[in-house]
Amino acid sequence: MTAERTAPERLTEDQAAAELARLAAAIARHDRLYHQEDAPEISDAAYDALRRRNDAIEARFPQLVCADSPNRRIGAAPASGFAKVTHRVPMLSLDNAFEDADVQAFDQRVRRFLGLGADEPVPLVAEPKIDGLAIALHYEDGRFVLGATRGDGTTGEDVTRNLATLRSIPARLKGRTPARLEVRGEVYMERADFLALNRAREAADEPVFANPRNSAAGSLRQKDMAVTASRPLRFFAYGWGDLAEDLGPTQWACLDRLDALGFTTNPERKLCAGVDEALGLWRAIEAKRASLPYDIDGVVYKVDRLDWQARLGSVGRVPRWALAHKFSAETARTTVEDIVVQVGRTGALTPVANLAPVTVGGVVVSRATLHNEDEIQRKDIRVGDTVVIQRAGDVIPQVLAVDLDQRPKDARPFDVPTACPVCGSAAVREDGEAVRRCTGGLTCPAQAVERLRHFVGRDAFDIEGLGEKQIAAFFEAGLVRAPADLFRLEARDATAEPRLAEREGWGTVSAANLFHAIAERRRVPLARFIHALGVRRVGEGMARVLARRYRTFAAWRSAMDAVARGDADARADLLAIDKVGDAVADALAAFFAEPHNERTLDALAAEVTVEDAEERAAGTTLAGKTVVFTGTLERMTRDEAKARAEALGATVAGSVSRKTDFVVVGSDAGSKAAKARELGVTTMTEDEWLALAEAALGGRPPPAGRGGRGKWRGTS
Ligand code: IVH
Repeated sequence: MTAERTAPERLTEDQAAAELARLAAAIARHDRLYHQEDAPEISDAAYDALRRRNDAIEARFPQLVCADSPNRRIGAAPASGFAKVTHRVPMLSLDNAFEDADVQAFDQRVRRFLGLGADEPVPLVAEPKIDGLAIALHYEDGRFVLGATRGDGTTGEDVTRNLATLRSIPARLKGRTPARLEVRGEVYMERADFLALNRAREAADEPVFANPRNSAAGSLRQKDMAVTASRPLRFFAYGWGDLAEDLGPTQWACLDRLDALGFTTNPERKLCAGVDEALGLWRAIEAKRASLPYDIDGVVYKVDRLDWQARLGSVGRVPRWALAHKFSAETARTTVEDIVVQVGRTGALTPVANLAPVTVGGVVVSRATLHNEDEIQRKDIRVGDTVVIQRAGDVIPQVLAVDLDQRPKDARPFDVPTACPVCGSAAVREDGEAVRRCTGGLTCPAQAVERLRHFVGRDAFDIEGLGEKQIAAFFEAGLVRAPADLFRLEARDATAEPRLAEREGWGTVSAANLFHAIAERRRVPLARFIHALGVRRVGEGMARVLARRYRTFAAWRSAMDAVARGDADARADLLAIDKVGDAVADALAAFFAEPHNERTLDALAAEVTVEDAEERAAGTTLAGKTVVFTGTLERMTRDEAKARAEALGATVAGSVSRKTDFVVVGSDAGSKAAKARELGVTTMTEDEWLALAEAALGGRPPPAGRGGRGKWRGTS
């Protein structure tokens, strides 16, 4: 057996020295591929396995830790060097569908929202979903002035000079142009060009790109524009952002206009009369997928009428008027090397299969989630089995089936754990629950670490530079046990022994960067704060709903304390919020009834400033108001009325209470209208409400998905 496969505890010192040198070189190479060349060759899990192996060997042979240890080197800096660009209109992403039924449901949702009859046609534009990277091109008086990557949808990178080298990006537009025009689309590389580029790189002993997408991204983000110019990149236009004047009344007309201005739109695009025709196009495109010169991963459908698009608006980061219908996921066969159990933030134990690494859809996969013990039993997955795995889009790989013919005699069934693998507390499965949970609560380090990870995560406090490994190490060293400790880290470090910069894996620069990243997060929007606490059943969307309703941290906290004390009015107010049911109310009550959580909150509140929830459309008459709709509305559907009210900054509640500001009464209204009168809450007719809404908006339909706040990634 070579040293590469030997367990760390069985290595001789000589073997360990050789193995550490091999690992240091491999890790440095993967860092460079990942950070500087956008061309990772191995999965994150495989990379983590290399790091873990390195750390285990270093722990056994501390005398062998040398200057080029991956833990001493500061991680390869990202090839930033590009100025940041904030998108005036956020660059949205798309909801995914995999089945025809999902597409039909999309058509139904659109109809319901707009209140269209069953036989009213809803024409859709269908076109391939290109596997490249989204960019935005800004033109002023017909001249190309700025080009940016999508980035996180709110902020991207200025790659103007590089984009200017693409032949399919016109420097000057043809004909009459709007004074200000932002065109959006996909930069991609054709498959043949990608293969030729890789052949040339291989011949020159340069690392090859994993797939055309990585190759396009890597080629665009070059500091030297001459390199980009030498790469065969192309651009398909499929949309727009900020505009000084409309391009046309429909998606289709706008695409024609983009063609006329000198852009290339996808030649496969088609205007379909309705969902059936769109599904037909999906099948036709899937059939010719392999013969298209570029990689695609599905078909995108967009509601053709732009007035409808505007009314439909968006939910979070995805428009209600568009859908990506993906092709089925790629599958591969591999073997299960082990089944391990992970402990999550809420104590849930999740079995995970460690797999012999295999490439699926251009990415190396070495783990797959097995969900829970019932799932393992249902599929009868054992250690040693050959399994078929599937990877669809960004989702975690799944095991589809076991090949029983290949089952070795010594295949080992999964032992259901009765104790938490991390803290040893009993692991129990409650009646009616699919998951088994560790009962250790906060005494379980895995749960505590997972909570901290959630707290610093992208959708919560978004502290850069704090990954799983760093959090676990801080926890173990006793530096950070609770969220508030993060904010005391810098002050404590001044007198700490050793200083953070002297700890393994850290240096002066990375420590200073971390303190800076933490300091930037001392002000936090209420919704992020609520989400960061990790209350069960309170995800990002629910946190936003709560923030919008209670507006300030103080108001939210005192209301939740009251709910925890069993105050019936406070609970009724909470339940009056649309989307809040008993399960959420119970989870909040349980969280606030726990003295430990109260102490965590006190400590945090002493360190950070929680910003009041923004009125979504500050200054409008409806901002901050609570509205209830009752009875049948004549001029728009309940969904649309609700979306409009919310776009104007109002909260829509499901039942009338003393806190309700207006009740909009449609025809055949029942008890809610009566209750409003009884409580003295203002009531109005649908027409009165519409007049109020129109006045607040200046007569325009609501903007489609505003949001995002410069410095925070994603929505806040
Ligand atoms: S439309 C609001 N159309 O898919 C709609 N996107 O999953 C935003 N993409 O970030 C995008 N081909 O990078 C649209 N024909 C197409 C597309 C397309 C590829 C990508 C794009 C976007 C991602 C969303």
